[in-house]
Amino acid sequence: MINIAIDGPSGAGKSTLAKALAKELGYIHTDTGALYRTVGLAVRRAGISPDDKEAVIALLPSVRISLRYEADGQKIYLDGEDVGALIRTNEISSYASKVSAIPEVRAFLLELQRGIARENNVIMDGRDIGTVILPDAEVKFFITVSDEERARRRHRELAARGESLSLEEVRRTMAERDKSDSTREIAPAVPAPDAVFLDNTGDFTETVSRALAIIRSKTERHE
Ligand code: DC
Repeated sequence: MINIAIDGPSGAGKSTLAKALAKELGYIHTDTGALYRTVGLAVRRAGISPDDKEAVIALLPSVRISLRYEADGQKIYLDGEDVGALIRTNEISSYASKVSAIPEVRAFLLELQRGIARENNVIMDGRDIGTVILPDAEVKFFITVSDEERARRRHRELAARGESLSLEEVRRTMAERDKSDSTREIAPAVPAPDAVFLDNTGDFTETVSRALAIIRSKTERHE
């Protein structure tokens, strides 16, 4: 199986890029942020504070997450309910970031991610895919985008979902989330030593072409 890891900060366009590449290559695309978001949603629904580590850990055995891959991409379920749309709010972003810093939460989601990669040609995006989840991935990318452009994209995305935060508010919450995601003790969002840096600020079609050329050159010997 061929595994491609895409890591980088929030709003860098990892999922959009991963989706485009998966379509081009006929691989599945696993959005691992959705897993942390779904744990965040379960915590929110249980009325637990995401800062209460012990309570979050105690909840884990009852959190049943499953993924399904369909023609239009990944579907995620919590206790059999499709929660794909519910996990995209700004509130759940913050829950996800907090619970993702708890080692037990990361351990809880580890095997699910590795199992998918064992059984499928996959493009997996997240924060620690190249460093922790798939250290032997054939290709690893670390996506970068200018801070200004990232905030603008995220602001547009939230506005399209009816969340009217100011650009300044988006910029502030993104900076807070990035800081804790990249400085936490466990699996910080940092590039793997063998990751290829890919700037996604400019033309998207060009980013896709560049990524495809790199993937093809690195995987030819496997095919
Ligand atoms: O990619 P995203 O914004 O949907 O991710 C939501 C949160 O989950 C983010 O704050 C960091 C965390 N996350 C993580 O710690 N590890 C991953 N592989 C993916 C996401």
